Amino acid sequence: MDGASPGRAAIDAMQPNDLNSWWMPFTANRSFKSSPRIIARAKDMHYYTRDGRAVIDGSAGLWCCNAGHNRDHIVSAIQAQAQELDYAPPFQFGHPAGFAAAARIAQLAPGDLDHVFFCNSGSEAADTALKIALAYWNITGQGQRTRLIGRERGYHGVGFGGISVGGIVNNRKYFGTLLAGVDHLPHTYNRQEQAFSKGEPEWGAHLADELERIVALHDPSTVAAVIVEPMAGSTGVLPPPKGYLKRLREICDKYGLLLIFDEVITGFGRLGCAFAAERYGVVPDMITFAKGVNSGTVPMGGVIVRKPIYDAFMKGPPHAVELFHGYTYSGHPLACAAAIAALDVYRDEKLFERAKAIESVWADAVMTLKDLPNVLDIRTLGLVAAIDLASKPDAVGARGFEAMDHGFNEADLLMRVTADTIALSPPLIMTDNQVDEIIDKIGRVIRAVA
Ligand SMILES: Cc1ncc(COP(=O)(O)O)c(C=O)c1O
Repeated sequence: MDGASPGRAAIDAMQPNDLNSWWMPFTANRSFKSSPRIIARAKDMHYYTRDGRAVIDGSAGLWCCNAGHNRDHIVSAIQAQAQELDYAPPFQFGHPAGFAAAARIAQLAPGDLDHVFFCNSGSEAADTALKIALAYWNITGQGQRTRLIGRERGYHGVGFGGISVGGIVNNRKYFGTLLAGVDHLPHTYNRQEQAFSKGEPEWGAHLADELERIVALHDPSTVAAVIVEPMAGSTGVLPPPKGYLKRLREICDKYGLLLIFDEVITGFGRLGCAFAAERYGVVPDMITFAKGVNSGTVPMGGVIVRKPIYDAFMKGPPHAVELFHGYTYSGHPLACAAAIAALDVYRDEKLFERAKAIESVWADAVMTLKDLPNVLDIRTLGLVAAIDLASKPDAVGARGFEAMDHGFNEADLLMRVTADTIALSPPLIMTDNQVDEIIDKIGRVIRAVA
């Protein structure tokens, strides 16, 4: 690549006082702009600041860079694709990388989850899945099935569909109630019953039975679909209780409801399998994905759909569009090339197996933080962990914010916080030594913010 390209020169010339124009997402903008945390480059397990400080990545970016950063195979694939074909319209036209990527993704999915609809993010994936569910019932003669059921503390991105079925209060309360006809399962977390669980907690499978109550209230004939994250991630890592997801599947089958797993975080090795569906032996009707599909390198999301659902749409005159939905950048060539290359890396380096192999080492290591000041609970699952810290009086989120800031600036550790919960989800390439390094740094951070 041409190192002296105009884009590169503009980036190099950027001064810290140029921070004003970007209204940053899910960010405390004023605080950031007075004390910015700027990431300049990355390689493997590390980010680097502009002054060259190496910061170990404890969260795979934002739960997405599962293969680590700037992996040569993925970078080369993106470069080659950009030279060969920058863009092709996905409406009525196709390109080789799109079909190849879809086939590779479908191969990884269980059962007859055979068809992939591409979009550009997890939010679009959630909205796409909900729309496919509603359209499916319309075209199969049950158009009265319009209700969608999500879960408290669920996160399905920030589109209107996603926030409607989602259950994170701040993500909903400012934006009205545009999507009517939605109900919510209770969340599955109970500290008293589950504190300091490694893996799936023993307590809580019965909470799936609430679906029976909700379905009875609305009448099963009005319910289109149930959407859950197999492990709720963004709300602070809530592993599913043992047996919970199987029970949800049984109840959906009993009433003919579609079950959607939002695997935007849990997909592509995070829980030691291609998808959480495999870990739990449950085949949902649709799986949404994003993030890890191409190790976070190019925006991409999608929905994997079971064959009978796809087949139901493939009717009518051959020239007719079967689903009135799609995005300009659905299956973008660069995203697809990156996905194929990332899937190569996952396969060739056996990274899903690696995640499974070190899951218990990771869980044991994280649990050593149990007795540090303010630690109220620790949860682990796959290569994920959450540490709940006690909130400061009258300042929910302040300790978490300080922990994140101290981690980056003082401990050379990047991590994600949700209010006062630290969430960890390192790249799957993490070595055993790096497990110790991350845990040591977290310990220092927790003490520093005590
Ligand atoms: C389960 C889940 N669904 C959807 C999303 C939204 O993804 P995006 O930010 O790519 O829109 C996220 C993001 O964290 C997620 O965790």
